[in-house]
Amino acid sequence: MTQQQPSQDDAPTFTPRKNGPYRQVSEELAAWMRTGWADTERRDLEPLEQSPYAAKRRAVLSARFPGERLVIPAGVLKVRSNDTEYPFRAASDYVHLTGDQSEGGCLVLEPRTDGGHDSVVYLLPRSDRDNGEFWLDGHGELWTGRRHSLTEASALLGLPAHDVRALPDLLRDAPEAPSRIVRGHDAALEAVLASSGADPQEATRRDAELAEFLHDTRLVKDDWEIGQLQRAVDSTVRGFEDVVRVLPEAEATSERHIEGTFFLRARVEGNDVGYGTIAAAGPNATTLHWVRNDGRVRSGELLLLDAGVETTTLYTADVTRTLPINGRFTDVQRRVYDLVYAAQEAGIAAVRPGTPFRAFHDAAQRVLAEGLVQWGLLEGPVERVLELGLQRRYSLHGTGHMLGLDVHDCATARSEGYVDGLLEPGMVLTVEPGLYFQPDDTTVPDELRGIGVRIEDDILVTADGHRNLSAGLPRASAEVEEWLSGLLPDA
Ligand code: GLY
Ligand code: MN
Ligand code: MN
Repeated sequence: MTQQQPSQDDAPTFTPRKNGPYRQVSEELAAWMRTGWADTERRDLEPLEQSPYAAKRRAVLSARFPGERLVIPAGVLKVRSNDTEYPFRAASDYVHLTGDQSEGGCLVLEPRTDGGHDSVVYLLPRSDRDNGEFWLDGHGELWTGRRHSLTEASALLGLPAHDVRALPDLLRDAPEAPSRIVRGHDAALEAVLASSGADPQEATRRDAELAEFLHDTRLVKDDWEIGQLQRAVDSTVRGFEDVVRVLPEAEATSERHIEGTFFLRARVEGNDVGYGTIAAAGPNATTLHWVRNDGRVRSGELLLLDAGVETTTLYTADVTRTLPINGRFTDVQRRVYDLVYAAQEAGIAAVRPGTPFRAFHDAAQRVLAEGLVQWGLLEGPVERVLELGLQRRYSLHGTGHMLGLDVHDCATARSEGYVDGLLEPGMVLTVEPGLYFQPDDTTVPDELRGIGVRIEDDILVTADGHRNLSAGLPRASAEVEEWLSGLLPDA
């Protein structure tokens, strides 16, 4: 797509916007472009199904910060090169509190004297047809697509919607009130608040407190969110099935064929992938964040596929399966796989309300340590191995994390409510032990070198235990083989 200049001839000129797609346009064309457009305003829009949930979340936020102005930006486009931007993905806290995903949007909770807040969402309105913005500006609707009018957005979100272009001045001229902003998404709005004269260190501390509180409130998912996470997982299951069907093509090309196949499912059914797909065949599986995905896919080796579809509402799955590319585990692959599986079983069994978050990690690591001692890779006793964390030479990473709008959800939540806290119904977390024997690790026998196995599922904490949202994908080695035999073209 290039932004073409229209033919200019000798016609009189209209002054287009700086950096706009056209250098010169005639008065006649400009005048003609102002006219002849139908009224497309939608007057029948119902609120989004998440809007009542977002309203409850705003009420919780309001109650925590009475008398304070709270600014939660959606984020702005980031330049990739010249006039080309990265695809926009709205900031998770903004999405959580509004249900909206508009680039450049911002939610403001304006304090009322009674201690509550008025919530207003600030958005770009429809492109103006009278001043030519819709076609003369490269971000106008003719180039990027129709936006909701402010009236439409208000109906969808259940919030008053105002023009975001007025927001910097509104914030500058607003009645004196302590303000907080979620940082990292909109430098221009941060600069406006920073210019208020507040002590920078104190502002940093207060903004961090807001970020922490917002992540605290995202730890327990409501019913609607759990439904979205199940949707994300269900699409992901279909994406894994797609991948298995194309393994012969991947063998003829590279891991990219796997990444691309999964991405197709993510884009057709959801918004995107929730994080960079790890399609790691053979020894690449021992590189934890292998996202280059340019390696060979060989029969007889394992494929570690860690991938998640992000729904159109921006909730993501995070699932890993380690699969024998030709459909059958070798004996040594099965031995490693079955140990990781046993560790995952122990981890999942430890997920229930009232238990410490760390319990599932400890349970899984114990099983791995026991197995590694039994194999003679680590010197016992197991208690010493665990105390010194020696198993982590091969298990490498933590056993799981919260999942939601972000793959590593609630990362700035207080540790008392998360890693040092207790599990509560409505939390969704991954349980993902692994074993990774680096190709150049001389502490392990040759036969193990280059084998990497991780099994990762998305687990909902329920009132009396847990539910595996990703149970639609088999996990036990024999079940994996049976599943593969039904999908692999030549199995
Ligand atoms: N895919 C990243 C993770 O499993 O945490
Ligand atoms: Mn993962
Ligand atoms: Mn994970």
